[in-house]
Amino acid sequence: MKYGHFSEDGREYIITRPDTPRPWINYLSNEKFCALCSQTGGGHSFYQSSGYDRITIEYPALIVLKDRPGRYVYLRDAETGNYWSPGWQPVRKDLDSFECRHGMGYTTIKSAYQGIETEITYYVPRRDDLELWMVKIKNAGDKPRKLQAFPYAKWSLANYAYNMVENSFANLFNESAVEDDIIFVSTRFWNVTQGGGGGNPNARWDKWAFFTASFKPDGFDCFDEEFVGMYRGWGDPIAVVEGKCRNSCGGGKDICGALQYDFTIEPGQEEKFVVLLGVVSKWEDAKILKSRYDTWEEAAHGLQENRSYWENYISRTMCETSDKDFDLAINYWNKYQAWVTSRWSRMDSYYVGGGSIIGHRDSWQDMLAILPNDLDWARQRVIYMLEHQYPDGSTLHNWDPITNLGVKTGHSDDPMWVLLGTLEYLKESGEMVFLDENVRYYDGGSETVKQHLLRAADYTLAHCSERGIPLIMAADWNDGLDYVGRQGRGESTMVAHHLAWMLRELANCLWFVGSDNLAEKYIAERDKLIRAINEHLWDGEWYIRGTRDDGEAFGSVRNMEGRIYLNAQTWAVLAGSAPRERAIRCMDSVHKHLMTEYGPALFLPAYKEPDPKMGIISRFAPGTKENGTIFNHPVCWAIMAECILGRGDKAYEIYKKASFVSRGKDPDTYKTEPYVYAEYIHGPDSPTFGQGEFTWTTGTAAWMWKVAVEYILGVRPEFRGLLIDPCIPHEWDGFKLRRRFRRATYEIEVSNPEHVCQGVAELIVDGEPWNSHLIPAFSDGKTHEVKVRMGSTENVVPPQELVAQKSLE
Ligand code: GLC
Repeated sequence: MKYGHFSEDGREYIITRPDTPRPWINYLSNEKFCALCSQTGGGHSFYQSSGYDRITIEYPALIVLKDRPGRYVYLRDAETGNYWSPGWQPVRKDLDSFECRHGMGYTTIKSAYQGIETEITYYVPRRDDLELWMVKIKNAGDKPRKLQAFPYAKWSLANYAYNMVENSFANLFNESAVEDDIIFVSTRFWNVTQGGGGGNPNARWDKWAFFTASFKPDGFDCFDEEFVGMYRGWGDPIAVVEGKCRNSCGGGKDICGALQYDFTIEPGQEEKFVVLLGVVSKWEDAKILKSRYDTWEEAAHGLQENRSYWENYISRTMCETSDKDFDLAINYWNKYQAWVTSRWSRMDSYYVGGGSIIGHRDSWQDMLAILPNDLDWARQRVIYMLEHQYPDGSTLHNWDPITNLGVKTGHSDDPMWVLLGTLEYLKESGEMVFLDENVRYYDGGSETVKQHLLRAADYTLAHCSERGIPLIMAADWNDGLDYVGRQGRGESTMVAHHLAWMLRELANCLWFVGSDNLAEKYIAERDKLIRAINEHLWDGEWYIRGTRDDGEAFGSVRNMEGRIYLNAQTWAVLAGSAPRERAIRCMDSVHKHLMTEYGPALFLPAYKEPDPKMGIISRFAPGTKENGTIFNHPVCWAIMAECILGRGDKAYEIYKKASFVSRGKDPDTYKTEPYVYAEYIHGPDSPTFGQGEFTWTTGTAAWMWKVAVEYILGVRPEFRGLLIDPCIPHEWDGFKLRRRFRRATYEIEVSNPEHVCQGVAELIVDGEPWNSHLIPAFSDGKTHEVKVRMGSTENVVPPQELVAQKSLE
């Protein structure tokens, strides 16, 4: 492979040259401190909130294009004056060798240059809020070398957007100081409003960032004007060129953190040191952290703790199929990406950044892939999310995690995610008493979780058009549809399906806990809604995507652009709102009109001219963002829909087309990281069709993992137990899956001797034949063996859950 490959065991991605087609990054994070780290050590860090507790800088114009700045260690030969970057950037001298390994929670960059071998491992310890750079420098030559090392970081403290927009003014509040060989920096000005609106907050940042190392420094700099120098860049900073820091320090200026270390290494010998960059509320804490991590052994111990965390997390769900690419995504990288999105929502990436946003709908979805792997964390998340609902059932759309302030936009899908996320939690945990727990509302008061759910359903039921279809209002899952329903008349087919789906799941939950009357009420609403959907939204070969305020349909055969939308079809299947014949027909239309070599497009054709009656969706350049791309998040729902229809070959074909492993095999077209999903792939109307964009922070991470495990491998939780209903490509001989479920471990082994896509002929649980697809929740802390033979289903009876999921009206 041209730029890199997965390690043999799948746990690492090994990049073999520094000039990847885009920065290929990793997230190093302990859930509070977060460092984005590229293959050259590029990237920035923040604490809790990338908008308001920023630590190091990210320049929008430089980040993707140049991957600068970063967490750099310059090396200089003190005798010749020659200097280089062992991570290639920012000096970019030709290295004799280069390798970057991204792993779970760490990144290691190794290189060689003129007889000096360097290895830097970056990670964030589980327990403390700092990043560590473990630097090993070896003299591979045959004569002693006098060298100098200059670790360097560029600050942007507290409010990132304000620092960007009001840079010179913001610098006036900077302060820096050095004590006990530690550089301390802070700002006396802290506003927690985007871009700095809100006047003078009369408050200082309540934290200090610090920068130090295990060596005794021979110099330092806190001013970029001194370290980098005038009319220069990071590629040739004056302090490195001349081999001397100026010991600059003080306030009111543009600040950096730079250290100088002069040392000699004998042939064959190694020099090792640790660089610490972190955040504390008082200086004393930084001194404690320095004493905790400033030996190599202690830093290595923290790295080991970090690895144990990940091994433990990763091991909870493991599969073995005949497709190694599938396995390495499910077992490692897709699971890892889903963890990252669950912690950081859409707050920060190389493509989207500087905001400080916990997205309501995003976070409910991001939580889904955590459920089987860390139920306790997911439970806390569910409560946190419910706390952002209003007593009328509506919700905040997004908010900042520090101030807890956010906006209520009126996106019509928001209340539906309250239902989806909470009901999935209940299925996974079986904790039905959770329904009776009181959780507060955002603006005061509290009610039981059950009431939160009923209110979400009632809110959407109360916001329907006269003909009974949910109004789209500010937009729905598709943020781009932001001008179709502002006047309160436009309708959303996707929310209609979403509501139909949730009403079924809510009713199942209510029946399960004995609230039969309520369950009947919601099923009656569902029946009515499904009739309305099929009466008003069917377009002949597919469902329209909705109607606008002026009553015109969009996503209709009558439209020249945006003729057929994916979600309107796939969700008809997920919700069971399409009669079987229509379900097949609309999904066949997806294959016919939307399928590309990279998966089905969100809709086609793209809008070529801005259409004020549609909104921003038509303003994005054709084939980018939401305008006619292969948006990976909805691709997951297409796979799920095919599995519900039992079309395992089609489902897998879509999975393979979209998979980052497949896409990474064509890196010069795809460009972005081959080990995580991108939000979207440029569509056929873009000149760069096939290119990935907006990597890491996408709902694809959770959904692709969930759909692969629960719908392709077909092992999914229901209120009454664990459902086994694989839908695989017919060539597979079978597969194995280990999964936790309600405090027990299930070792599931599936064989497929007849080479079917779907159907269970025989099920054996702990050696005993079992006649239902639904196996019990043992909840006994033990391991249970489940053997499944796929084939005709005569001896295994589908439970009501499965019948309901497949009974298209
Ligand atoms: C982005 C947003 C998500 C939205 C999607 C489609 O991924 O994070 O909330 O649903 O775009 O507009």
